[in-house]
Amino acid sequence: MALLTSAPKGTQDILPSQSGNWHYIERKALSIAERYGFREMRTPTFEHTELFLRSVGDTTDVVQKEMYTFRDKKDRSITLRPEGTAGVVRAAIENGLLNGQLPLKISYIVNCFRYEKPQAGRLREFHQFGVELFGADGAAADAEVISLAEEALSSLGVTRIRLMLNSIGCKTCRPEYQKKLRAYFQEHEGELCETCKGRLLTNPMRIIDCKSPACKKLAESAPKMIGHLCPECEAHFAGLKKRLDAMGIAYQIDPDIVRGLDYYVRTVFEFVTDAIGAQGTVCGGGRYDGLVETVGGPALSGIGFAIGLERLLLVMAASGAEFPPAKGCDLYLAAVGDAASAEAGAIARKLRLEGFSVETDLTGRSLKAQMRYADKIGAAYSAVLGESELAGGTVKVRDMAGGGQAELPLGDGFLSAFYQLSLSKSVSDAADAAARHGQE
Ligand code: HAM
Repeated sequence: MALLTSAPKGTQDILPSQSGNWHYIERKALSIAERYGFREMRTPTFEHTELFLRSVGDTTDVVQKEMYTFRDKKDRSITLRPEGTAGVVRAAIENGLLNGQLPLKISYIVNCFRYEKPQAGRLREFHQFGVELFGADGAAADAEVISLAEEALSSLGVTRIRLMLNSIGCKTCRPEYQKKLRAYFQEHEGELCETCKGRLLTNPMRIIDCKSPACKKLAESAPKMIGHLCPECEAHFAGLKKRLDAMGIAYQIDPDIVRGLDYYVRTVFEFVTDAIGAQGTVCGGGRYDGLVETVGGPALSGIGFAIGLERLLLVMAASGAEFPPAKGCDLYLAAVGDAASAEAGAIARKLRLEGFSVETDLTGRSLKAQMRYADKIGAAYSAVLGESELAGGTVKVRDMAGGGQAELPLGDGFLSAFYQLSLSKSVSDAADAAARHGQE
């Protein structure tokens, strides 16, 4: 029975009391991205497994240890997406978006699945807001994407965060570096975890990103890619730093950032915090020139990032960020008797069609219980409809906070009278707020 009433490990419900905050961060992030020219894309939750093997890389932790992969009824290998980039690349190629106007700028909000050990800020189903920019090779694109990530975080009230930057080279300079790295780790082969022993031959850079404590320790003293960049990668990195300086975006160089996914070249970056525990990387991204081609598209460069929304909410809380208050009920219409209840339903419908939030009794409660309910839900106004109101054609509408009352006509005139009433309240509330502000 416990299985029926408990969510799978590493998953979370987003409750009605929390969904307003989610809407707020999602809308804000998407609308900031829109100002940079990004349009939202929605891709399927699952893709052919092959897509992630080829893009994320078959020597990464994500592919080797963390994917939710299964066979469908026609024996196809299917994987729940562990991240958003691969699906966007696949969809952009499949739908011919890369043959049109460039650069192509895509934003997205996705749920992702990774079979990881759950802890604070680390889930098996989590959510990302991300962007991908295709077809711009120069450092200007890197700077713009980083500027967008920074703006999204800071405009959501995140303060306790730092931008960490690195360059991990390209196919020209990386092979030479990989040789040095392999030689270094070979000297310590006995200390590596079993997975990394395999990576020694196939992809020694992955060892730097391994989560096992022994590999982490060894990685500290390993040679760094940033000391082995070719002149083109050097120039690209210098160009990016110059642009970030010009934009006034602070950063620190961290030669240890390699990122956990195989598709990155040149620029990689993370926004990290120490305010939310061990899982402090709130945003990760970088350049992935070559990925589009690997997946079967044209030879176009790409760069993007993703912000983990659960971690974003944690760091917002740690930064004391504020959320807009939830929109409450404008009017609670209490009713006594069947005829009044029917009239209340009709008025409620009319008002809702005009954008007001209105509630009426649906459970046959006593008048006293209806008023208690109105109080609990924080209704701005309440009104009681009974036989005498129906007969007289008017109803008293009470301001629940201020206590004042106004008599409004029932029937066709109610909507505009209520509109006037609530308008005057918002005007006087605004005046009160301004007066309070003036006194402070
Ligand atoms: P990533 O670094 O694997 O990059 O994930 C991006 C963000 O997703 C992380 O910084 C973190 O906030 C969040 N995240 C990752 N795993 C978990 C988890 N198990 N639980 C909660 N949050 C998590 C990518 O996914 C790349 N696709 C980013 C990118 C886009 N690069 C270029 N374009």
